[in-house]
Amino acid sequence: KLPKKVTVKEVGPRDGLQNEKERVATEDKIAWIDSLSETGVSYIEVSSFVHPKWIPQLADAAEVLKAIKRKKGVTYAALVPNIRGLDRALEVDVDEVSIFMSASEGHNRSNINKSIEETYPILGEVVKEAKQAGKRVRGYVSTVIACPYDGPVSPSQVRTVADQLFSMGIDELSLGETIGVAVPTQVEQLLDELLLHFDSEKLAMHFHDTRGTALANIVKSLEMGITIFDSSLGGLGGCPYAKGASGNVATDDLVYMLHELGIETGIDFQSLMKSGQLIETALGKQLKSRQMDILRAE
Ligand code: HMG
Ligand code: MG
Repeated sequence: KLPKKVTVKEVGPRDGLQNEKERVATEDKIAWIDSLSETGVSYIEVSSFVHPKWIPQLADAAEVLKAIKRKKGVTYAALVPNIRGLDRALEVDVDEVSIFMSASEGHNRSNINKSIEETYPILGEVVKEAKQAGKRVRGYVSTVIACPYDGPVSPSQVRTVADQLFSMGIDELSLGETIGVAVPTQVEQLLDELLLHFDSEKLAMHFHDTRGTALANIVKSLEMGITIFDSSLGGLGGCPYAKGASGNVATDDLVYMLHELGIETGIDFQSLMKSGQLIETALGKQLKSRQMDILRAE
């Protein structure tokens, strides 16, 4: 029933760090990403080319992309909100770009300053130009279960946005449970709807763990055939425009569970924990994952 192999996409350097108030030095980010590259993870979301005033922590995206050692077999991706962001990302030859929007008006507006309808043509143009430049494009839809401003979000609302993004030509869609409220029955309802229309291989789940339900939701997603999961090492992260959102599900907790379930990830657990210690030292504060707690207690 469960898949034999899963792809874990490390989004800590982007989704994790974007919510850290204290600036992390560019060289510390580079060292961390280089250490992540040695863990066996095949995909790292390195930074984002959004407006630097909106996310000052990631204003050094270009420097980071230029300086990291790119390991063969690892995809180095970044978020782009518009053509300006795409141009900046292409200048430093990012491997893959991720576009993003929300299933709810309130979050879309507060996150990218546009209505949902206004967002489609902007992203459509980004996908077209990224494809012309030979890049793979990932899409994100946020607030797939609930919105911090508008409340519950229906599966059909998510499907509408997913339809639009896939018709633009995205290769994969990541479903963002932005505020970390979901429970497995809700995930089941969402996937029941989406899997009627889209291949499971093209869908990824992106859970925030605000209420400790992320791993339960991942098990449900695995049972329904999903094999791509986003996570941040040590559970770093959140969304600055979703009040109360805490970090992504922790990569280390996820990888522990997957391996114990007999599911391959290609990731070496010891190297992953070393990489966690490296960013913990750079941040000067403890990461909140269970595996980091255990490591500190040893
Ligand atoms: P805006 O102010 O509406 O932008 O922001 P604009 O298009 O009106 O442009 C205003 C000025 O910004 C112009 O400069 C542009 O050139 C400049 P001026 O002509 O006035 O001198 N500008 C830029 N500069 C650098 N890079 C750019 C860029 N774009 C415009 N890319 C915008 C609109 C989308 C840019 C802004 O709202 C923004 O940057 N938002 C980013 C928000 C963000 O990063 N949120 C977090 C990521 S999403 C997330 O975390 C959710 C996810 O994890 C999934 C989940 O958990 O649900 C993915
Ligand atoms: Mg997120």
